[in-house]
Amino acid sequence: MTERPRSPYRPGMGTDPPYLGDRRSQLERFREYLDEPGVPHNVLVTGLRGVGKTVLLNRYSDDAEATDWLIVDREWSEADTEPATFAQLILADLLHLARRLSLSERVKAAAGGLGKAALDLLGGLSVSYEGVDIGYQRGERRAAPRRLDDDLRQALSRVGELCATSDYAGCILRYDEFHVVEEKKGWLTLSALLAAVAAVQQRGLPILLILCGLPPILENLARSKSYTERMFTLEHLGNLRPPEDRAALSDPARALGRDYEEAAVAAVLRDTAGYPYFIQFYGDALWRGAPGDTITLADYHRLRPDIQSVLDRSFFESRYLRTTARERTVLHAIARHQGEEASVREIQERTGLPNNVLQPTLWYLVRKGLVYRPTRGKVAFTAPLFGAYLRRRGDDAD
Ligand SMILES: Nc1ncnc2c1ncn2[C@@H]1O[C@H](COP(=O)(O)OP(=O)(O)OP(=O)(O)O)[C@@H](O)[C@H]1O
Ligand SMILES: [Mg+2]
Repeated sequence: MTERPRSPYRPGMGTDPPYLGDRRSQLERFREYLDEPGVPHNVLVTGLRGVGKTVLLNRYSDDAEATDWLIVDREWSEADTEPATFAQLILADLLHLARRLSLSERVKAAAGGLGKAALDLLGGLSVSYEGVDIGYQRGERRAAPRRLDDDLRQALSRVGELCATSDYAGCILRYDEFHVVEEKKGWLTLSALLAAVAAVQQRGLPILLILCGLPPILENLARSKSYTERMFTLEHLGNLRPPEDRAALSDPARALGRDYEEAAVAAVLRDTAGYPYFIQFYGDALWRGAPGDTITLADYHRLRPDIQSVLDRSFFESRYLRTTARERTVLHAIARHQGEEASVREIQERTGLPNNVLQPTLWYLVRKGLVYRPTRGKVAFTAPLFGAYLRRRGDDAD
């Protein structure tokens, strides 16, 4: 018996899929931006968990590097959002870019020690935020010695000038999981970054900002600066649409000499609703579990209970276990009647919770990344098919 090739599917986080479905227009737009370094372009990528945001960012980076752009990237976490930490991290990224740019032959050859001057300035700024506690202390505010917006504008200008002198086409700041960053009352963080980027771009300097995160990122940005909707091209990613969902499932197998029965493809697409992570997950399980060269509907039926129970335990349950009893009541209320979303009024009717209890509960569920508000007055699950999972699980109170 000949050995079967390894599974081509890539269920995971940010793992490059064998067939990138339904992202052609996003990539085409981005390539146009790369062709116009001095023109202000920024990209805001959002979408629910596992929809393929990080994968798209990785493709952006590949294209950018292939056309001589210099990239610094960072995945943000809750701990990074304290104002002083935020400032230090952004400055560290700018310093990193400046170091790389200073090594460029054209910068080295430039008159006036351009590279060294920029590094001195950035190094100094960076140090000035070290050990600075600009957080709240029981309601009393310790003096912030610096204004981050001024400092960032100055720092980013230097990087932009270096970049314009260098052999690089431009510089990209690529920030993933950025929904965690919110403007804290009274402290400049997000708005300082946006103002700095807008200022250098108005000068025609080749800096491009890519922000990416779960949908609350939209509200965070809009709240911090009123002009954000004009500053970014919004790439709102969704599930793969037909026929790209089909291609994402069957092309990788076909490329390695295996096919699917049409009815098996249809069944998988029905279960996954085109959700990229699930397509990779099902594809992988079917590839490994089906004995023949053709993956059949019978294989699907045989393997589906296992697939679902692994997904329940690994994907869904970890989300569920992070919730309190009251939050669970609300989640189950949303999931009632085949629902993947519900209106606040429906949730209220189904749970009997008064508004002053329901609203904070919803707020915590949004903070935990379990639900979001697709439109005013509506609440929906961030994970596709989470409602179906809750209905399978049952309305227990544990
Ligand atoms: N366009 C696509 N076509 C096929 N599969 C994809 C596509 N995009 C992503 N995937 C697959 O989906 C999974 C999730 O991708 P990724 O980690 O990029 O999602 P994400 O939106 O960044 O998730 P999170 O919000 O958790 O960070 C991976 O297994 C990846 O291989
Ligand atoms: Mg991601």
